[in-house]
Amino acid sequence: MDLVNVYDFETAAQEAMSQMAYDYYASGANDEITLHENHAAYDYIPLRYRVLVDVSERDLSTTILGHDVSMPILIAPTAFHKLAHPGGEVAMARAAEKAGTIMMLSTLSTTAMEEVTEATRAPVWFQLYVYKDRGATEALLQRAQAAGCSAIVLTVDAPLLGKREQDVRNRFQLPSDLSVKNLLAHAMADLPDHPDDSSLAAHAASMFDSTLSWKDIEWLRSVSDLPLIIKGIVHPDDALLATELEVAGVFVSNHGGRQLDTALPTVEALPDIVEAVDGRAALLIDGGIRRGTDVIKAIALGADAVAVGRAPLWGLAVDGEAGVDAVLAILRDEFDLAMALCGCTSIDEITTDLIG
Ligand code: GLV
Repeated sequence: MDLVNVYDFETAAQEAMSQMAYDYYASGANDEITLHENHAAYDYIPLRYRVLVDVSERDLSTTILGHDVSMPILIAPTAFHKLAHPGGEVAMARAAEKAGTIMMLSTLSTTAMEEVTEATRAPVWFQLYVYKDRGATEALLQRAQAAGCSAIVLTVDAPLLGKREQDVRNRFQLPSDLSVKNLLAHAMADLPDHPDDSSLAAHAASMFDSTLSWKDIEWLRSVSDLPLIIKGIVHPDDALLATELEVAGVFVSNHGGRQLDTALPTVEALPDIVEAVDGRAALLIDGGIRRGTDVIKAIALGADAVAVGRAPLWGLAVDGEAGVDAVLAILRDEFDLAMALCGCTSIDEITTDLIG
């Protein structure tokens, strides 16, 4: 089978993985309205391209929070990479290095964070879930800094896990040879077996700190000096609160449609958030990015970079590190072509004028 786009990789990934693993990555919450609309919303944004521009040379590179990246496409945090491929998070991080981009590493990694940062020269940002056990959470933050992670990505849209019905039906759990390596060092329980539910939902319900609120951002800052990115924002008032706290980054996300179903698609949330943030923090977005044209639209609407979660996971499942390389190359080539056909030769030239 020719794998020419991200959808081909998804089809091949489904064949390569167990049904439980594929369903875990692919599914969204409830009726999967947000999962679907995240991408569909891009389809209805027309590009008002320019012509007769010399586009023979194009520069896709940009700088995100001080890191030079070869393209504004970053790896979003996703859990349990060894469920997709034995190469796991190390394979993903090595592919990120080759692609000249940033890897966000999930708290729920099946590889210890130190092993990941040692294996790559790509910047690694640590995605954090805040646990009721604040001591263990603090220890995770300290380890991230010691391991060389260069930012914290705090997920704020998951006080509890969304109801992913496929995971409930499958009684989702990790195979016995995999574990949540970052947590084991802090004597935190691995995913519990749960006879009636997703074991990840049970883990979140018993261990995530659902009291987390804006006042805890100060606490977080008191225990980590790393730049803080807040991930899971769709409301401009929350973006404003985040910028008032002088966070380094605002990450527009609805968790890939996996949390609150019928939440608005991220690209529809973006313009109001761009206005609220007004250049005071880096602006990232994920959700529904499957095409280079999606990337150019997000940048045109004011994002500094997009992040992709499922797309590189499909690559990982199909062929480990080489599969991630291939997916990132497809997205880069599609984005490059979209730039050329829009009459843009650099990221700065991608402006709202392109949006019809
Ligand atoms: C983990 O973060 C998930 O959303 O499944």
